[in-house]
Amino acid sequence: VDPTLDLAEEINRLKKERNAVILAHYYQESEIQDIADYIGDSLGLSQQAASTDADIIVFAGVHFMAETAKMLSPQKKVLLPDLKAGCSLADSCPAPVFAKFKEKYPDHIVVSYINCTAELKTLTDICCTSTNARHVIDSIPLDQPIIFAPDVNLGRWLIKETGRDMVLWNGSCMVHEIFSHEKITKLKIAHPNAALIAHPECEAHILDMADHVGSTSSLLRFTRESPHSEYIVATEPGIIHQMELAAPDKVFYPAPPNNTCACNECPHMKRNTMEKLYLCMKYEMPEITLPEWVIEKGVKSIDRMLEISA
Ligand code: 13P
Ligand code: SF4
Repeated sequence: VDPTLDLAEEINRLKKERNAVILAHYYQESEIQDIADYIGDSLGLSQQAASTDADIIVFAGVHFMAETAKMLSPQKKVLLPDLKAGCSLADSCPAPVFAKFKEKYPDHIVVSYINCTAELKTLTDICCTSTNARHVIDSIPLDQPIIFAPDVNLGRWLIKETGRDMVLWNGSCMVHEIFSHEKITKLKIAHPNAALIAHPECEAHILDMADHVGSTSSLLRFTRESPHSEYIVATEPGIIHQMELAAPDKVFYPAPPNNTCACNECPHMKRNTMEKLYLCMKYEMPEITLPEWVIEKGVKSIDRMLEISA
């Protein structure tokens, strides 16, 4: 790409020319968030993907999110700037292995966190995101046993919050499982007035000491509305950009990861760059494609979730 090119200007031009919409997750780099038409959590992004009248959806997020957009709007072209932007949670639950696991529990229904592959969604009765997970579990009759996949940390948190026993798949997010209890404790001592806020993909020992647990949109709302002036943020630090924009007088400290990890950024989310965003809009590729049967079968689990979240 010509280094003199104003990427933001070019992306805006292509957006109009192609009737495209850019949907970005809060974990994207700040420049991408600033140019997006909509920034949100996984639930908000899928609601936008289902309702947009654009011809092209450019998904500044990871693969499972773009797949979800394709399932909800199969007639639209869905682009992902880097097809390698995966997700360790989605990877931790391969559909053929899960299908065998599910056979052991014929009476159970399957609730899957939306962070899973399109194929896993075909084996799922109802999806959830971290915003509506509690609501989804509460909507299931008490005598109906549940398998929850793929995030074991979110699953354990939901068992605690809802009092429902569930069979859990043992998957996890590589970003949220690396926070250091010891380093966060030291940071809390250094900043005694700071509130610790954490995403439910974190391990239980981090969630247990948090002042607020919630999805990215819930954490953002909390920092906007609560009276604290300092926050320790135990989730991917990309979201701090929106926190700072919404409350410029407040101070945000990214929760430190353990010694073996240099940083707590999601390497998948951060694969997307302004340059790749520009190129994908210019050449209208890489495009997300899915077999028809996967779309038809898998979308039911997302539709069910959206119906009860509306
Ligand atoms: P939410 O934005 O829905 O809370 O999801 C967080 C996440 O890890 C997405 O990959
Ligand atoms: Fe997946 Fe975790 Fe990255 Fe989200 S932050 S995309 S759950 S690896």
